[in-house]
Amino acid sequence: MNTHEENYVGKSAIDEIISKHKVLTTMEEIQEASEYKYLDMQSMDYLSSQTKVPLSQIYSVATFYSFFNLKPQGKHTIIVCRGTACHTKGSKVLLDDLSTMPGCKEALEAGETSFTTEDRLITVKTVACFGQCALAPVVAVDGVIYSNVTSEQIKKILQNLQEDNKDENIRLC
Ligand code: FES
Repeated sequence: MNTHEENYVGKSAIDEIISKHKVLTTMEEIQEASEYKYLDMQSMDYLSSQTKVPLSQIYSVATFYSFFNLKPQGKHTIIVCRGTACHTKGSKVLLDDLSTMPGCKEALEAGETSFTTEDRLITVKTVACFGQCALAPVVAVDGVIYSNVTSEQIKKILQNLQEDNKDENIRLC
């Protein structure tokens, strides 16, 4: 057997990898298409039956990647980085500023990784690192990254979102 044959992982292994990646992309699109941007059990169950990928595998993928949500999400999402660099530059203060929303502090202190307001307007999440440590503290608002965020700025962002002005520009000053 030459080196190439020894290296070949086989059709079934490759097929399995292909199917996993297809499932991952499909899961992303299902979540994106859903009204509250999360994967519900019914959707995962149907995906499992259509792809023949066990539901347990789909569920473990959904829980492994922080990108996937298993609960209804707010219209707006604020993600605060809690990595070492951001923590050193005051990200805890930013999280405390957001925790003034009723129920938020309790949820995060109870170990929840995300909190959504009852009116589903805002979801607050934390992340381990955005990979932009030089810009700490870093916050993402509806997918837009903001750097060197101050307490005043996060309060302003929160106020803007709470006013929920559709044409608003989220300004940092
Ligand atoms: S620790 Fe916050 S971006 Fe890396």
